[in-house]
Formats: sequence, structure tokens, C-alpha cells
Amino acid sequence: QADERESMFLVSEFARDYFQRILLEDNEGKAIGLSYFKERGFTDETIKKFQLGYALNDWDAFSSEALNKGYNLKYLESTGLTIVKQDLLAPNGTKQFDRFKGRVLFPIHSMSGRVLGFGGRILTNDKKAAKYLNSPDSDIYHKGNILYGIYYAKQTIAKEDNCYLVEGYTDVISFHQKGVENVVASSGTALTENQIRLINRLTKNITILFDGDAAGIRASIRGIDLILEQGMNVRVLSFPDGDDPDSFAKKVSEQELKEYLENNSQDFINFKVSLLMKDAQNDPVKKAGLIRDIVVSISKIPDRIQREVYIQECSRIMDISESVLFSELAQLDKKEK
Ligand code: CTP
Ligand code: MN
Ligand code: MN
Ligand code: MN
Ligand code: MN
Repeated sequence: QADERESMFLVSEFARDYFQRILLEDNEGKAIGLSYFKERGFTDETIKKFQLGYALNDWDAFSSEALNKGYNLKYLESTGLTIVKQDLLAPNGTKQFDRFKGRVLFPIHSMSGRVLGFGGRILTNDKKAAKYLNSPDSDIYHKGNILYGIYYAKQTIAKEDNCYLVEGYTDVISFHQKGVENVVASSGTALTENQIRLINRLTKNITILFDGDAAGIRASIRGIDLILEQGMNVRVLSFPDGDDPDSFAKKVSEQELKEYLENNSQDFINFKVSLLMKDAQNDPVKKAGLIRDIVVSISKIPDRIQREVYIQECSRIMDISESVLFSELAQLDKKEK
């Protein structure tokens, strides 16, 4: 079993090297892939650091090369890099196809830097095709247990004692290029307990920086309770509507980015209040709903003292007595059991 996983890592790392070589040396790779990354503002240094690659627009260029080099079809298939299909006309009844074709590739690393899989971005504006295609789940790649960028971020997360959590590959990379290295991405999946546990090994403090659109806001709200449940501290920082961390970072200098991050995060109570208060201001029913929503989040916090501090804050901001908040909290605790 350990041997099988090691074989899967080795084939993934061969693929990483191959796709990187295509990006940097092949004519199609340079003309299409490399110029795409350059247009997005990624420097040569960044492209090398993140081991970015390009998959040729060809049915089997990668798989043929890997088989020629002696890699076993079994592991090419189990990592999802190669798709094996029946083909009655082929000599042995099957034919191999590359999973990634005509896409730029982002290798996804484990905490220790092994290659677990890839995310591949399409280069056209074809709305029918998925923008990102990822490796399928396998013995080495479990979408819900992976944070993109953790290998590059772990030291800085521990040093800064804070982790920025973003949605996408390019958000992570743009932040690094602007000198902010304590950043990881959930890569589009709904944030999971296991992903938060990975961060919990390095710091107790997470700042959520999701996209400034409806989907990003919804995902931030879900993330808050999951983080509080693990006894961690969560802050939230929103970007102007339409921006994500990548597009925002591109518009500002390193110092402006750092100042923005420093000065614009909110604790979860203020985040929820600023998000929902406009609606609730003159509507007692909505205001009650908002208060209940905040108390539900507070009920996720394991630490008694922290709970009390947040109840005090909620009471002050929402202008409601602490005693009624505590009794609501007690109700929720009873339901939990
Ligand atoms: N994602 C995915 N599959 C999709 C769309 C998104 O896996 N079809 C994941 C990717 O990891 C992506 C993240 O969700 O990076 C965030 O999605 P989105 O904000 O749409 O993409 P960006 O990262 O902003 O990509 P880009 O700037 O290249 O458009
Ligand atoms: Mn071919
Ligand atoms: Mn988005
Ligand atoms: Mn985005
Ligand atoms: Mn983006």
C-alpha cells in the first residue's frame, strides 16, 4: 500500500517535471501557456517556484511520453493523469488519453512538498467547459484534505501566527508575488474540517479572504462556524464587489496590500453585522434573526471565557441584554446534546 502510494507520487512528480518542461521549452507551451501566465503578471521566478506547467493540446502526448519512459500504466491511471478507454481497433483493445489537454497546470503539493495532483485551467473563454479541471480523488489526492499552497506557506503561517484562507490557485500565487506568504486556498471545495485541521497544526488564527461575490460571501459564512468549532479564531476580510484576492493584489503595491490586510479584517460578529444590518436596521424580525445567527456561531466556540467575551460584544453592538443572549446560548447547548 505504501509502495503503491510512492509509485503514484513518482508518476505525479514525473508529470510535474514534464509539464513544466513543456511550458518553458516547447514552442506550443511557450506561445500559449507561458504567455498566458505572463499576461496574468506572473514573473519567471514565480512560475518556477510554483512549478507551473502546460499540457499540450494533444490526445496522448503526456501518456505516450510517460509510457516510453517506463512508467506503469496502472499508476498513470490511478492518479487520473491518463484515462484508459476501450478501443476495439487498438492492438490490445484499449487506448490511453491524457486527462489534461491544452490547459495550464498548477501542481498541488502536500505539506512536505510531494505532488498529490494538479489543477488545470482552460485558456479559452468557452463557457461550456469547466474553467478548472482537477485531478480525481485517489489514494494520494483527497480534495477535502488538501490546501493549495500549504507547502509554500507553512513556515510563514507559523511565524506570523496567522493564515489567510483564499479560494483559488491564482489568489495564493499573486499574494506570494506581493510578499504575503501565509496564504492557502480551499480550491473551490466547500471548506472542510480536515482542511481547517491542517491549519490548526500551524496557527490558531485564520483570516478568511473569499471572493467579493455572493458565492464567496456564502462560503465565508459557512467557514466561520467550522473554524470556531475547532477552538480557533476567525476574522473575515471582504474585497470590493467583483474583486478576488488575485485581482485586488494586482492593482496595488506590496505595501498597500499589506496595509489593506492589516486594517480591514473584522471579527466574525462585526462581519455578520455589517453584512446583514442594512436589511435588519428597521425590521425587528430580521434583527432578531441576525442576533440568533450570531449566537449560533458563538455556541460553536468550545472555550467558556471566549464565549462570554463574544456575548458581551454582541450585546453591545446589537443593543440587547447579555442575559437574554446567555439564555439563548443555553438553549442551543441543550439542543447540541
Ligand atoms: N474551481 C474548480 N473548478 C471550477 C471552478 C473553480 O475547481 N470549475 C476552484 C479552483 O481551485 C479555483 C477556485 O475554485 O481556483 C476559485 O474559483 P474562481 O474564483 O472561479 O477562480 P479563480 O481562482 O479566481 O480563477 P481565475 O482568476 O483564473 O479565473
Ligand atoms: Mn498524439
Ligand atoms: Mn469566485
Ligand atoms: Mn476567484
Ligand atoms: Mn481570479
